[in-house]
Amino acid sequence: MLKDTIIKRRTVRRFTDEKMPLETLKELLMYASMAPSNANAHPVEFIVVSEKEDFTYLAAMDRFGAKHLADAPLAVLIVANKDVCKYWVQEAAMTTAYLDLLVQEEGYQAGYLPFHDNTTDKNEDAEAYVRDYFNIPDNYGTLGILSIGKKDERVRTRKEFPIDEKIHENRF
Ligand SMILES: Cc1cc2nc3c(=O)[nH]c(=O)nc-3n(C[C@H](O)[C@H](O)[C@H](O)COP(=O)(O)O)c2cc1C
Repeated sequence: MLKDTIIKRRTVRRFTDEKMPLETLKELLMYASMAPSNANAHPVEFIVVSEKEDFTYLAAMDRFGAKHLADAPLAVLIVANKDVCKYWVQEAAMTTAYLDLLVQEEGYQAGYLPFHDNTTDKNEDAEAYVRDYFNIPDNYGTLGILSIGKKDERVRTRKEFPIDEKIHENRF
């Protein structure tokens, strides 16, 4: 049930060595790709990362919040073709949110790290840090990365979420 999946989903940064099978991931990516898309353009594509040396590179990007990627068993870089859709950031974000929930529903957990609009601690463009390394073409944007696996940390279950002060009826 979707509400149950949403309430149970928490960010996980430490994973066991167990890898989600590639076939399972491919199926989830297919469902995530069914997120809404302007003019049915579907500009979002994925780079599946599974090599230790690639995680070592990602974790070395010198940014607080990236170090945990060193030990991730699997991750997905979310990229999108800017030429076919000017809303690529929104498209990639919706797809990522779908994927995050699909991962949770499949019995795995995930953690997100943004590259778009983000910098390394040395103030370098975080997107540029991954573009060359992963051969991402210049006309593609990289929204971020979702690391995926079985949690190896305690995750607190969410009980309730205060919402009343965030809802404005008819006017802000
Ligand atoms: C736009 C965005 C940027 C985020 N940046 C990071 C990050 O740099 N490092 C990290 O470990 N988690 C990052 N996260 C995950 C958040 O830290 C996490 O969602 C937040 O702590 C709430 O926890 P929850 O996902 O368990 O509800 C980011 C999430 C979003 C949506």
